Order: sequence, then structure tokens, then C-alpha cells
Amino acid sequence: MSTNSTNLGFRGALRRFGKAAALGLVLFGGSAVLFYSDGFQKMFAAVGADVDLPEVAGIEVAQANREAMHAARAAWLEDINAPAPSIPIGPDGYFAPPSEDEIPDGPFGESIRRGRDIFVNTPKYAPQYSGNSQSCVNCHLDAGRKENSAPLWGAYTKYPMYRGKNKMVNTYQERIKGCFTYSMNAQASPAGGPPPLGDQVYLDLEAYAFWLASGAPTGQVLPGAGYPKVPETELGYDYNRGEKVYAQNCAICHGDDGQGRREADGSVRFPPLWGPEAYNWGAGMARINTAASFIKYNMPLSQGQTLSDQDAWDVAAYINSFERPKDPRQTGSLEEARQTFHKNEQSYYGKEVRGKIIGHGVSREQAL
Ligand code: HEC
Ligand code: HEC
Repeated sequence: MSTNSTNLGFRGALRRFGKAAALGLVLFGGSAVLFYSDGFQKMFAAVGADVDLPEVAGIEVAQANREAMHAARAAWLEDINAPAPSIPIGPDGYFAPPSEDEIPDGPFGESIRRGRDIFVNTPKYAPQYSGNSQSCVNCHLDAGRKENSAPLWGAYTKYPMYRGKNKMVNTYQERIKGCFTYSMNAQASPAGGPPPLGDQVYLDLEAYAFWLASGAPTGQVLPGAGYPKVPETELGYDYNRGEKVYAQNCAICHGDDGQGRREADGSVRFPPLWGPEAYNWGAGMARINTAASFIKYNMPLSQGQTLSDQDAWDVAAYINSFERPKDPRQTGSLEEARQTFHKNEQSYYGKEVRGKIIGHGVSREQAL
């Protein structure tokens, strides 16, 4: 059995490894290309995880656990009294979703693959509903697998769930509709709005999430689900302080002007963080607390949990202190929409920033 001391030893070793690796990375050179590789993401994924790690390291553990789950499921079909299948857990202590090579053949597998494609490249695979340069994967990293970046395996089994945002019980489709409406700015898409409920886009995205969550328990929130909260700091948040944090840690990839960078073929390499191609004013990420949480655990890319809480708050304030597409719920005045939808939130919507009230929104046409 695992004991605290072996756990601590292993965690300590991981931390030391993490620090050494981080230093190595910095020394190796600030090349964005280098950071943006799956290998590094994987390497850092385990570092600083605030959960009890299993006693044995190595990828085999996760695979063995998933195989054990499949075996236990098969035994269960034979004999209802057989032990219940256990949850597959990876070497980092988080839920281990199936690997891509386990996607089944046939129509269900095809739907899962389409869902994955839409998730990692939304402008290409769901162009009719895409109103900016974002893809789902920009905020749900590693194709929706990464812990602490609202992974799909942590989300799927939570729904149906009540949400204060629209004051009703939301199905999983309704939840994704929210991300199309705000994060993907569907109002500026060719369709002019999010896919209607029941659309094939949802069915495919749902198939992908259902499959990634295979073996995840219902009725409980798994470690690593959602974006963990960052404690409020004494100093609060300040976009002026955040400007420096941004220049030092973020501009290399997202650009001095926050507009990100594209590949030669036009696809997005580093997503824009504000302006007409970013998430709109109604998005969760436009709230400073939600952005601080995402950033603290996931940015700079592959170096989550290296910024201080203060820097995470300040840089979140900075990126959310610029115009972005309008909140689609604003039908009357800005002040009315602020009162109705943004009243008690931590955001600059309808407030004065650098001498100007912001929140009016900026569209692709205006930017041309
Ligand atoms: C600009 C960033 C961004 C983009 C792009 C984005 N999302 Fe989200 N998503 C969020 C935020 C922020 C939340 C809220 C998380 C929370 O409340 O803790 C969220 C929540 C979710 C949830 C619920 C998570 C949970 O744990 O309950 C799902 C599912 C989801 N998004 C799917 C998608 C899909 C599918 C797409 C693409 C169509 C997408 N998202 C695009 C930022 C984004
Ligand atoms: C090494 C390059 C790199 C650095 C440095 C970096 N990012 Fe990112 N960032 C990315 C990439 C790539 C994504 C999209 C992730 C994906 O698609 O897998 C991203 C996504 C985001 C998102 C998601 C929302 C959106 O608009 O798509 C935010 C917010 C963000 N970064 C903020 C920051 C902040 C703040 C910093 C500095 C503290 C930072 N990033 C540093 C590469 C980087």
C-alpha cells in the first residue's frame, strides 16, 4: 500500500524534477516553438498536482488501470456480484481518459473523431458556427484532456446541472451552446448564432466528451475538473501591474498587441486574447477571476503554476482591459446590460479603463 512518506518522496522528487526542468527550459532559450510541444506539456502535467499520487510512477499504471477497468466491466456482465470496476487513474493522480487509439470503429467512433476535430480546430470543422479565431482546445487544453483546464472528462458527468448564468437546469448540449455563444462568438459566424440544440455539431462534441469520460464516476466532482479558484490577494487586481507581467511572460506567444500568431496556412498557432477575433464580453474568460484561474494553472503554456497568485490576477485584469466582441445579450444600452448581466462580477464591462468606458464591443468589420 502507498504510505504518506513514499507519496511525499515521490512528490518531492517530482517537484525537484519540475524545477530543474523549468530552469533547463528557460536556459534552453525562449523559443515559443520549443514550448509548444506535447512532450513538454506532458512533462509538466504532473508537477505540483495537489492530489495524492499513486505509489508507482510510469505510464503503465494508467494503462493497466484502464485495462483493469475493462476486465472488471466484463466480469460484471457475467456476475453481478463481481467487484465494481475502479476508476482509471493516471500516474499524476488524475483521471486517465482513454487514448486516441482506443476510439472504436464504426459510426460511434466516426462521431467521436468528428467531435475531436471540431474541438481542436473549430473554425475548420464547424465553420458555420465559428465567429472568431478560437477553438475549444484553446481554453480546454490537450484536446480537452488536461486537468485544471476544465477537461471534458471532468465536465461530462456533471450534467444536467443548474447554472446561475441562465437560471435553469442545463443539459450538456446547453452548456456547450454557452461556449459557442460567448467563447466562440457565434453571433459573428455565418449562421449568426450557435448551433440549434440537436445539431450534429453537438452530437459529435457530445460523443467525444462521453467517450473521454468513460469510467468517470457520476454524482461527484473529480480532482482536476474545472479551473481551480485562485485566492483573492490583498492588493486586488490592477491592469497597470498586469501590463508588465504580460510583457515578460505572455507577449512572446500572444504578441505585444494580444492578437496571437498564425501559421503560414492561416490556422491559429497562438490565439488572440482580445480584439474582434477573441472571446466576447459575455464569456467566462472575460471575468477576471475566471481568467486568473485559467492562467494560474495553464499559462505560460506548459508552465502552469509558475506565476504568483498576484501576477495571475494582474495579468488577467490586463488582458480583459481591452475591447472584444460585444456581449450578444446586450440589446439595449451598455449600462442596462451591465446592470442585468454583469452587476456583481469581477470584470471591466461597462466600466472606465484608461479614461474610456469599455464593453461596447468591437466587430470584425470595425477592425478592417
Ligand atoms: C475562450 C475560452 C473558451 C473557449 C474557446 C471554449 N470554452 Fe468552454 N469553457 C470556458 C470557460 C471559462 C468555462 C467555465 C468553466 C467554469 O465555470 O469553471 C467553460 C466551460 C465549458 C464546459 C463545462 C465545464 C465544466 O466543468 O462544467 C464545457 C463542456 C465546455 N466549456 C466546452 C466547450 C466547447 C465544446 C467549446 C468549443 C465549441 C468551448 N468550450 C470553447 C472557456 C472556453
Ligand atoms: C509558449 C507560448 C505561450 C505563452 C508564453 C503563453 N501562452 Fe497563452 N496560450 C498559448 C496557446 C498555444 C494557447 C492555446 C492552447 C491550445 O490551443 O492548446 C494559449 C491560450 C491562452 C488563453 C486562452 C484563451 C484564448 O483566448 O484562447 C489565455 C487567456 C492565455 N493563453 C493567456 C496567457 C497569458 C496571460 C500568458 C502569460 C502569463 C500566456 N498566455 C502565455 C501559448 C502561450
